[in-house]
Amino acid sequence: MDTQKVIEMLRADMRGEQQAIIQYLAHAYALGEGEVSGGIEAIAREEMRHLDWLADAIVELGGDPDMGREPPDLSAAAPSAQMLKNVDLEQQAIDQYRAHMEAIEDEGIRRLLARIVHDEVSHQKEFQGYAEDLADEGDAAPEGGAGGANPRLAQILNYGVRHEYTVVLQYLYHSFVADDCELREEMQNAAINEMQHMGWLAEELQEKGQQPEFDHHDPFFSRDAVANLEADIAIEEEVTRAYSSQIPQVQEEDIREILSRVRDHEIYHADLFRDLLAEARERQAEAEPPAEAPEESQESEPPDGAPAVPPIGSLIK
Ligand SMILES: [Fe+2]
Ligand SMILES: [Fe+2]
Ligand SMILES: [Fe+2]
Repeated sequence: MDTQKVIEMLRADMRGEQQAIIQYLAHAYALGEGEVSGGIEAIAREEMRHLDWLADAIVELGGDPDMGREPPDLSAAAPSAQMLKNVDLEQQAIDQYRAHMEAIEDEGIRRLLARIVHDEVSHQKEFQGYAEDLADEGDAAPEGGAGGANPRLAQILNYGVRHEYTVVLQYLYHSFVADDCELREEMQNAAINEMQHMGWLAEELQEKGQQPEFDHHDPFFSRDAVANLEADIAIEEEVTRAYSSQIPQVQEEDIREILSRVRDHEIYHADLFRDLLAEARERQAEAEPPAEAPEESQESEPPDGAPAVPPIGSLIK
């Protein structure tokens, strides 16, 4: 099977993983704090790990990670019915991974998919258990605020969810294509932090009896670490300004506190990204010697004992 087809299969698998992440998080937020929602969020985190592994395999094959998703089922239903939807979604994933394992010859990728299937099988059992427990408990939904959020508050919270979802995708992609280990790790940590923000804001909406929209803007995706970090700093500065102007408009003190905490994290992110940008610029300068370098230096041997400059390809993980 040619590499392009393998890449296409893994890209389809990534879209299924993002679908699962959003569907599960939506269910967890709707349930509010508790054992079941904690368990569902843990499953969503494992799906994020799958997304990461698939992206790595795709990059290694020379492909582009797919940050799209199949449409999650976000329609309202009793909690136990939501869990049964997740049982079905896990089955779809298991079937798709097994079909891909049969079609793909590469041993390493088959091993990766087998490991993911293993997780999906245990997720499916967990969802089955949650469905039974929630049905036994009479499918008690958390008390949603009867009146719903006031329109301005809903607008502010939905703005936040949309921003946070956008940067989760943007930072994950930037970590997948990072040319440096530290950059990779920091972008992944930032993505996880943004996912927490999305959760806090979405839960506030849910508590007011309102379903978050789970849309996102177009994230900035490139293979250039410098361009990526410049876009990351710009979006952090923009959202910091937006949250700062929104905070005084919120009447509820607890929500003002959450927004302030999120805003302070964004300020930290921008500072961190400025440091990472300086380092990325240095790496770029080292990798690309000035175009008008004197000719002799291009031909000169490395000084005794010094290693030759590695080709650019080897600098990319
Ligand atoms: Fe998964
Ligand atoms: Fe954030
Ligand atoms: Fe941020």
